[in-house]
Amino acid sequence: MIQTVSTKPFDDQKPGTSGLRKKVRIFQQAHYAENFVQSVFDSLEGYEGQTLVVGGDGRYLNREVIQIVLKMAAANGFGRVLVGKGGILSTPAASHLIRSSGAFGGLVLSASHNPGGPDEDFGIKYNVSNGGPAPEKVTDAIHARTLAIQSYRILAAPDVDIDAIGTSRLGGMTVEVVDPVTGYADLMETLFDFAAIRAMIAGRFALSFDSMSAVTGPYAVEIFERRLGAPAGTVRNATPLPDFGHHHPDPNLVHAKELYDRMMAADAPDFGAASDGDGDRNLIIGKHCYVTPSDSLAVLAANAHLAPGYAKGLKGIARSMPTSGAADRVAEKLGIPLYETPTGWKFFGNLLDAGMATICGEESAGTGSDHVREKDGIWAVLLWLNILAVRRQSVAQIMADHWATYGRNYYARHDYEGIAKDRADALMAALRGKIRDLPGFATILGTVVQADDFAYTDPTDASTSSAQGVRILFDDGSRIVFRLSGTGTEGATLRVYLERFLGPDGKLDMETGAALFRVIESAERIADIEAFTGMNAPSVIT
Ligand code: G6P
Ligand code: ZN
Repeated sequence: MIQTVSTKPFDDQKPGTSGLRKKVRIFQQAHYAENFVQSVFDSLEGYEGQTLVVGGDGRYLNREVIQIVLKMAAANGFGRVLVGKGGILSTPAASHLIRSSGAFGGLVLSASHNPGGPDEDFGIKYNVSNGGPAPEKVTDAIHARTLAIQSYRILAAPDVDIDAIGTSRLGGMTVEVVDPVTGYADLMETLFDFAAIRAMIAGRFALSFDSMSAVTGPYAVEIFERRLGAPAGTVRNATPLPDFGHHHPDPNLVHAKELYDRMMAADAPDFGAASDGDGDRNLIIGKHCYVTPSDSLAVLAANAHLAPGYAKGLKGIARSMPTSGAADRVAEKLGIPLYETPTGWKFFGNLLDAGMATICGEESAGTGSDHVREKDGIWAVLLWLNILAVRRQSVAQIMADHWATYGRNYYARHDYEGIAKDRADALMAALRGKIRDLPGFATILGTVVQADDFAYTDPTDASTSSAQGVRILFDDGSRIVFRLSGTGTEGATLRVYLERFLGPDGKLDMETGAALFRVIESAERIADIEAFTGMNAPSVIT
């Protein structure tokens, strides 16, 4: 029953920041998904007889690729595959399932916050046995293999029923269809004071959660409505749909505008949140109070000890380089280390495994902890709720209190989308060419004190990553970072990260755009953005 199918390499299967992401129609080419899956298996050693986890965010092509993975895993000698019922597993739930089942690894099918549907995006990411995304040495090996592959192995067998929980055989392999939600929800109950949150909600604390027709619907309904007693309807857009109901499932102020408007209305609920396509990102908005992801990380770190799972305190905090320095001030006060890593959750895995960091976060709306090895949207919402239940203050009060203690890192990200790749590369090359001359350069913002192209040496294994983004620091504590997105599927996106710090005595209640006015102007001038891109304004501001 095992077939060996001849194939030819595709030259575009290099995994990006978070696995292989392409348009659905690219994945629909004959052998395309099979080549990549076989290249993953070929890059691994010792998986024979072991367990593989597979599941995804339910987007278009999810079910088809799951069948391919099942038949190829059987043909390649895996002993068992655990698959979420209906093919559903949120990214953090997949991470937890890999860890709790002692799996060899897992394939997570998602293009995260990118839209889904026949004309939209799909993705495949390999996670290793700690539950986290494969490190670069593994993804490099996978990429090399995709360029050399000549054949793949697949079982000729009918499709497996993935809609009924239970165990079946596929060739010599066991397939277990598992409930995707319960294990994850149970894990959350071990970390947070559900009784306190339930009491807060029963005391008329109003909550609104937007699943954006993506994967978190079933998780959010189980946790917020069933286990925490929030009224039915608290979770909106709760059914995962293959095209996400035409939502762009990126929980930011542009794409979660419906939630934002609800939270800014006169009769807004106390707390609003959203998550992305695969459930690892989060958006937090209090009543009339948007919380930036960078600030959210800082507040969660400063207050984590209020939740049972973190009562012993944190070992360290990690953030990606473009994330604001707000968390650094919390780490300093707590007397714990702060790690600055390149963009991409995979860089946190080693720090978490080594017990060096407990909480991690990124400006791109990801926060998480050592409970899994992915960022986790619902986890962040539950930690916020736990903190609110203990402190009995509003989100706005908590933010004001935080800034009065630590100062405020005003922060924004400007994205220039759809730039021709060569123009974006030319802009970055020109910037890199200027790095050496920038220190001492006076701008309307102040004098540049440091400029570099961020490079990282992992403290646990000394592996290095270079060219991770140009950062420019000014004498007033402001910072500008430029990098190109690693997750896009068409053209290039320039990301400009803008930050200005004001201490506890500074003006803490400015509007962000006004606070960052000079930083923005300096960034546009230093990088000649309009000349290179032809755009005189960013396409998205978050
Ligand atoms: C994915 C990763 C994140 C990372 C983000 C960066 O979502 O999981 O860890 O922060 O990509 O995206 P970008 O488009 O800026 O490369
Ligand atoms: Zn995601």
